[in-house]
Amino acid sequence: MPDELTLTIDGTEVRTTPGNNVLQAAMDAGIYVPYLCYYPGMKAFGACRMCVVNVEGGRGAPASCTTPVADGMVVNTQTPEIVALRRGIMEMLISEHPHGCLTCHRIDLCGPADICQRHVSVNDRCVTCPKNDRCELKDTVRHLELDMDTPLTYNNRRLPLAVDDPFWEMDMNLCIVCGRCVRVCDEVRADNALTFLERAGRSLIGTSHGVSLLESGCEFCGACIDVCPTGALVEREHKWDKAVRTITSVCPHCPVGCSMKLEINRRNRVIRAIPERRAEANRGQACLKGKFGLGFVNDRKRLKKPLVRQNGELAEVSWEQALETVASRLRPYRAGGYALLTSPKCTNEDHYVAQKFARTVMSTNNVDVSSNVRPELVKALGRMLGQEAGTNPIWGLDGAKCILVVSSNVTEEQNVAAVPVKRASREGAKVIVIDQRETELTRYASQWLRPKPGSEAALIGGMLRVIMDESLDDHEFMADRCEGAKDLKNSLWEFDLLRVERLTGIPRDEVQAAARAFAENGPAAILYGLETVPAEVRDACVTGLVNLALATGNVGKESSGLYPLFPGANEQGAKDVGCSPDRLPGYRPVEDADVRTVFGELWGAAIPEAEGLGVRDVVAAIEDGRIKALHVLGDSATFTNGQIGEFMAALEKLELLIVHDTAPNDLTELAHVVLPATTFAEKNGTYTNMERRVQLLRPAIGPRGEEEPDWRILCWIARELGGEGFDYESSEDVFREISELADIYAGIGYADLGVNGLQWPRADAETNGTPITNTQSGEQAKPRMEAMSLVQPPPRFEAGLYLAKGRLLHDNDRPMTVVKNNGSPYVEREEIVELHESDAAALGISDGDSVVATTSSESIRGAARLTSPHPGLVAVTGLFADVVTAAHDSTDPDPMLKIPGLPLERVEVAKA
Ligand code: FES
Repeated sequence: MPDELTLTIDGTEVRTTPGNNVLQAAMDAGIYVPYLCYYPGMKAFGACRMCVVNVEGGRGAPASCTTPVADGMVVNTQTPEIVALRRGIMEMLISEHPHGCLTCHRIDLCGPADICQRHVSVNDRCVTCPKNDRCELKDTVRHLELDMDTPLTYNNRRLPLAVDDPFWEMDMNLCIVCGRCVRVCDEVRADNALTFLERAGRSLIGTSHGVSLLESGCEFCGACIDVCPTGALVEREHKWDKAVRTITSVCPHCPVGCSMKLEINRRNRVIRAIPERRAEANRGQACLKGKFGLGFVNDRKRLKKPLVRQNGELAEVSWEQALETVASRLRPYRAGGYALLTSPKCTNEDHYVAQKFARTVMSTNNVDVSSNVRPELVKALGRMLGQEAGTNPIWGLDGAKCILVVSSNVTEEQNVAAVPVKRASREGAKVIVIDQRETELTRYASQWLRPKPGSEAALIGGMLRVIMDESLDDHEFMADRCEGAKDLKNSLWEFDLLRVERLTGIPRDEVQAAARAFAENGPAAILYGLETVPAEVRDACVTGLVNLALATGNVGKESSGLYPLFPGANEQGAKDVGCSPDRLPGYRPVEDADVRTVFGELWGAAIPEAEGLGVRDVVAAIEDGRIKALHVLGDSATFTNGQIGEFMAALEKLELLIVHDTAPNDLTELAHVVLPATTFAEKNGTYTNMERRVQLLRPAIGPRGEEEPDWRILCWIARELGGEGFDYESSEDVFREISELADIYAGIGYADLGVNGLQWPRADAETNGTPITNTQSGEQAKPRMEAMSLVQPPPRFEAGLYLAKGRLLHDNDRPMTVVKNNGSPYVEREEIVELHESDAAALGISDGDSVVATTSSESIRGAARLTSPHPGLVAVTGLFADVVTAAHDSTDPDPMLKIPGLPLERVEVAKA
């Protein structure tokens, strides 16, 4: 089949690819053909017939969205017959849609209070529709220039509005049943929260399983709203607000780095976020956090002026006073006792200046990004593959034939990355989940392995052993492309399957089945967040996963590779630019004296020799006095979720706490100085996502008061303290320095970043970055396989009970109801507490007993079920609906920051 073919549309020669449809080919060539049910990126539906065209030599008027292109085809889109046909179709469509003003040529001239001489009810005006001026139906009606003789009356369906769900509203009176919402939910998101319904012989749209979206398995990603061509589906917040500007920037909530079009109203508020369809990172998709969780930028409580604590109270001061205070109070800690924590929402420029400030002005390597609670996620990638980063693009997962997901609640933590996993699963890919918790992806899993806590590395080693024993490895790939294969093979003797079975609690035939599925279904990819894997085992786990990918030839090619799943939005960027206690920009090790000399000369200050303290060390270091002055850039989930210990309590022991933040919070309550910082929506800069994609943030709104970007605040403090090399005039200046010093960013500049950004490294100005690493083109060193040793689970798991708390979008098997509490809908159902029968016997609990599971943060009451696979493992599975309602009702400036993660926790269980 040829790669390209040529057809003629309205006299213009159009080159396109075989398999394309005529409508898309016309759109790609800039020729407008009206359409309503088609949506780029989704399969053609052929329902509305608005896109009809004339094909010379063909019969009738085919829908162009369902007509495949053919070489030499001649298409006419604007013949009088076609235009008349479209008008007729539209008249039928609007016979059930308020349209009194839609068809009037005076629509822009009349005010809402005017009395229409055509006696149209004012309710028919588009100003009563929340999508007034962003409605595709209206645009299409106008394009068709319907005659004034179009009947003004329409069949009002008088259907009640659905306004009970959080964040989302539905008005079926405005629906044209194009089915885009149902199809995007099913086809693109691989969910089925919406469906076609029929009521009284009339086709409608509704939720799949119940009356509420909370019950239907909805992700609250907003994709249905984004594709709805009318006002039938809308965001509740700012529903009536009109945008005066749109700016494309990057969501600050997770490492997918979704490109979002931010709509801004006349009052300088971000009123809507619409995922950018052209962006490679998210391909028009978003999640609850990105779609409905950016309101924090508009918060009324935003900090606008610097605050200094005087007589126990924070008082507003000028920037000059604040900087003087900060400098004089920081000066004593230049000799030691200082640490700096950045936010994962900081830009690369903020992180770079922060680490330069800590190292050259405060003479310490105590600098880290506060989300870096699992630094082991990428260390083995650096050692074995040459870069501490993921290897492949997110959407390459779409084409994988097997996907291994290790301890990751991807659907919530990196939501859009789960979309291609679910789609691949639908296309028949095997999904193997290793996790003690029940998560959304366990519902898609062909195999769900629940190892004993801390035994994950042994399980992965066991899979490798099977692959080698059964000769399922890719001999050629290992021989030609890797080093260290022999060392690895020799080390696997320890992973005897009986031993692995004993350690992991996973029967050996299941280990074998998982190994075979992974090795025999290429290309295969690995996603891992290690959310429930204890720190002692994580590096061994990642080493095993890299070995697994290499042994099966799943590195350096499409739809394969390794995807470390960070908790923070710009954690990759923070590490890239050296905001790390043991790495300088470009992952140059602090311990290397030559590297320190080079950076010392470039920055004009000696780089401290000792490796610094990271975020995980901070609590202990404050407790024992190694850290006395803490400088924190932005709030972080890490501070309150217990992952680094009792951080908030430890802060009381500090002599000095300086906080840059955007809104008051628990941290600013304790701070000695609070400096107002801009949010992602108010600054230039770059983020680097989980696929190494450097993307540009663009300021959508101006600051409310005297807020400044973190990098500039740090430069001011540095200069106050006599630091040199902090004279940047813009974030672009900072980025220029980054790309000069960090070779992984070499050749990348703001001007290159466009809609899609660029995946580092960039070989030269001619190439668009490196979507896939380790392809062994050029000079890249060979990946190195590493010997493995059998890491035992930490002894603490041998005694006591651990809670594996999971969460699902929907649970068909258990009845639930939605109840109203203070006007908000809550899902109510009986919880199930899974216990191992030996633990239940020891606690005197029988199957079905009412029990209470108590952790340090909550008590869960439910019915005991003796189905836990291992002694010591207790499991419960909540619903995503709880998270959605809590986020909707929260008064916190950034409720998305407070969505609880699902770590393994100590738990006590007793009869209720
Ligand atoms: Fe082609 Fe609807 S857009 S039939």
